[in-house]
Amino acid sequence: MAEDDFEPSIIAFCCNWCGYRAADSAGIRNIEYPTGLRIIRIMCSGMIHPNYVIDALTKGADGVIIFGCYREEDLRDLGPTKYKACHYVDGIKKTENRAEAIKLMLEDFGLEPERFRLERIFASEGQRFAQIVKEMSDSLKSLAPNPFKNS
Ligand code: FES
Repeated sequence: MAEDDFEPSIIAFCCNWCGYRAADSAGIRNIEYPTGLRIIRIMCSGMIHPNYVIDALTKGADGVIIFGCYREEDLRDLGPTKYKACHYVDGIKKTENRAEAIKLMLEDFGLEPERFRLERIFASEGQRFAQIVKEMSDSLKSLAPNPFKNS
């Protein structure tokens, strides 16, 4: 496959309240993002056990992104706001801790850390959602395809 033809496959686990709505916001506004993206809607990022990420990567996805909500403390500095933090209180904190474990597991599997990202996002950030997916796709293009892809 020519390098130019390589369209990385990216699995995005999107929490229902922020990540999924940000993707929807990108779609409604016709903001383009790479075609290799596959979205899996979940209620909260805290539902994602590290094994789900490792499973996706060892079954051939080139990259995985978890899109979750902000933490309560992230919103404090904004003053009164219509934005909401993680709807399940500590779901995103659980995800942050698991992200550390995921990075260690990637090392064990010989996979580059660039293959996984955790992002906090607001529902209205469709443009940023598309930008993050594009950055991830560009970064994955600079790596070799996932060695697990055809194994
Ligand atoms: Fe979005 Fe918990 S509800 S990360």
